[in-house]
Amino acid sequence: MSQYVITGGRRLEGELQIDGSKNAVLPIIAATLLNEDITYINNCPKILDVKIMIEILEQLGCHIEWQEQTLVIDTRHLSNYILNESLVKKMRSSIILLGALMGRCGEAQISQPGGCQLGARPINLHLEALKKMNVDISEVEGIIHCKTLHLQGAKINLKFPSVGATENIMLAAAKGEGVTIIYNAAREPEIVDLQDFLVSCGAKVEGAGTSTILIQGVTRLSGTTYQVIPDRIIAGTYLTAAAMTRGTIILNDVRNEHLVTMTEKLEMMGCQIIHEKNRVILSSPKVLKGINIITEPHPGFPTDMQSQMMALLCTCQGSTFIKENLFEARFKIVDELNKMGAAIKIKDCTAYIEGEKALHGETICAKDLRGGAALVLAGLVAEGCTIVKQIEHIERGYQNIILDLSKLGAHIQERK
Ligand code: EPZ
Repeated sequence: MSQYVITGGRRLEGELQIDGSKNAVLPIIAATLLNEDITYINNCPKILDVKIMIEILEQLGCHIEWQEQTLVIDTRHLSNYILNESLVKKMRSSIILLGALMGRCGEAQISQPGGCQLGARPINLHLEALKKMNVDISEVEGIIHCKTLHLQGAKINLKFPSVGATENIMLAAAKGEGVTIIYNAAREPEIVDLQDFLVSCGAKVEGAGTSTILIQGVTRLSGTTYQVIPDRIIAGTYLTAAAMTRGTIILNDVRNEHLVTMTEKLEMMGCQIIHEKNRVILSSPKVLKGINIITEPHPGFPTDMQSQMMALLCTCQGSTFIKENLFEARFKIVDELNKMGAAIKIKDCTAYIEGEKALHGETICAKDLRGGAALVLAGLVAEGCTIVKQIEHIERGYQNIILDLSKLGAHIQERK
């Protein structure tokens, strides 16, 4: 199993390009099943989750190839609706293939999805919504079978603004009969990107980014050429890395409107941030003031940045807390950070962090994607050498984290 070996103490300084968004491109790849055509997805990140999604679609009969950073997906010869169990178990977002397959062929078979162990992560909201759209759903020994002869639009009021459930409903409704209205929809930028992609294929969708999304089903969608939005969580991760080391960073190809929830927190801590057209510049003073963080659905502070901020807060002045409202088990890095000299205690869904802790290098384990990235950030400032194990979690969402951080001056390498 590969490991990252990091020698801490180097101030990060430099300029990076930001890749396409994992959480935008995964539902967009699923959406290509809705057309019987060829789709070109530009700025597609070459990450493990995309690789898994490609394998799933190929097993459904799609032909997929890379043309540099463009993913070319030919969905004309779909021949299967049974999703490969071992692949589905590797990735939570495989669940949104249900909605796409309902729209394409009216039938799908899937096992309970896997992915980051952040808590129970039930799929009740997904299944309840599809049932309202006239989908028959049965479950035998963990295998879920969905079938509909007539996909119908419906009014769906989500009990929670679930990102995945919102996406699943949009995918099913795009070719359902009649109008679907999603109330209490998720408002993340990735939902807006999915709407823009679907519209570019000829779908009738409006309202993404607000709590109410309206979809008018159409009979046919075509292929398209589409540029995926940049990954706001990768951008936030690298901004936090620069702040950790009290460095300076320039990120190009960002969408600043997607970053403000994060950058305003870094500014409150004392970082100087400049937002220019499609780039953001951060420089950090020697002393940063700790602040409290409460994660919420967009436009609140993103849960996917919670672990990275925890690592940063260990190095800032003052005692702070992080309240995690989205996932009940997203504090797995606390034990690893405490091994490195942090002083973090958990009570219910809140982590209490003592500031200005000098971290020292240790051998630690990534337990999930964003927690793994946060442990790399801790290694950047820890005294001595840090070894991060189980890095396959990190590779699910970061295409070039070694190359990127090395470009900024970090001393990091992969040991096979
Ligand atoms: C998406 O996951 C993202 N993944 C997650 O990013 C992100 O943390 C999350 O949204 C919240 O922003 C992708 O887009 C691939 P949810 P998703 O449904 O769709 C509960 C990363 O690191 N819930 O909004 O699974 C659920 O248990 C990943 O890139 C139900 O109860 O998130 C959780 O507590 C991690 N029933 C809350 O809603 C359901 O049917 C938020 O989940 C569905 C969700």
